[in-house]
Amino acid sequence: MNIQDISNKNYFVFDAFGTLFKTSEVKAELTQIAGEKTDNLINVWRNKQLQYTWLRNEMNRYQPFSTVTRDALDYSMRLNGITDEKVFDILLPLYDTPQLIEGAKDLLKTLKEKDKTVAILSNGTRSMLDNGVQLTGIQYYVDHILSVDDIGIYKPQPAVYQMALEKLEATTAELLFFSSNQWDVSGASNFGLDACWINQYGETKEGLPFGNMVETGSLRELTSSFL
Ligand code: 2OP
Repeated sequence: MNIQDISNKNYFVFDAFGTLFKTSEVKAELTQIAGEKTDNLINVWRNKQLQYTWLRNEMNRYQPFSTVTRDALDYSMRLNGITDEKVFDILLPLYDTPQLIEGAKDLLKTLKEKDKTVAILSNGTRSMLDNGVQLTGIQYYVDHILSVDDIGIYKPQPAVYQMALEKLEATTAELLFFSSNQWDVSGASNFGLDACWINQYGETKEGLPFGNMVETGSLRELTSSFL
């Protein structure tokens, strides 16, 4: 598969956090509390949040992403010796009321103009995803919001990617899955979906198994491949 082939697909399914929505934002009020530990606080938080979803999958101990996200932040604060509870109020809104990554709206708008079906498939809770879609004004461009909350299991379990096929009533030949998270691209492409890795953070390719995958450098680059 190459980047030109992707415009022949009909169903465009996007991961949410890190792909369309921001997962970090350094605000002055956070730096005032966390000082030089700010970056570590945010990085450990995101890594632990993901790790907790995978471990909970292994243990069959699902809790919604809002709980996992809070637990991970609580851990990162304790690790970094930060006790000020205001940090929860500063950082949790990144997930509770998500903000778009630059270029996301243009991309989704372009896909709708091409009459594509657009969906979000995320570990986020329904309320996180509904809030993000409504507050950022992309509700006109997103046809389906699919949350793992409906099945109580996290990506990259195959059942999640299967849910997308079933809910959209699509075949693997018609659908393309997009994520900036490599573990998610690996999960989707091993399940059998064609996938696009949006490498918008300039990451080194992980030593994970990848199936049918194409790589693009940014949301803007992706948009231009549809114009
Ligand atoms: C998602 O939105 C966790 O970023 C991942 O599914």
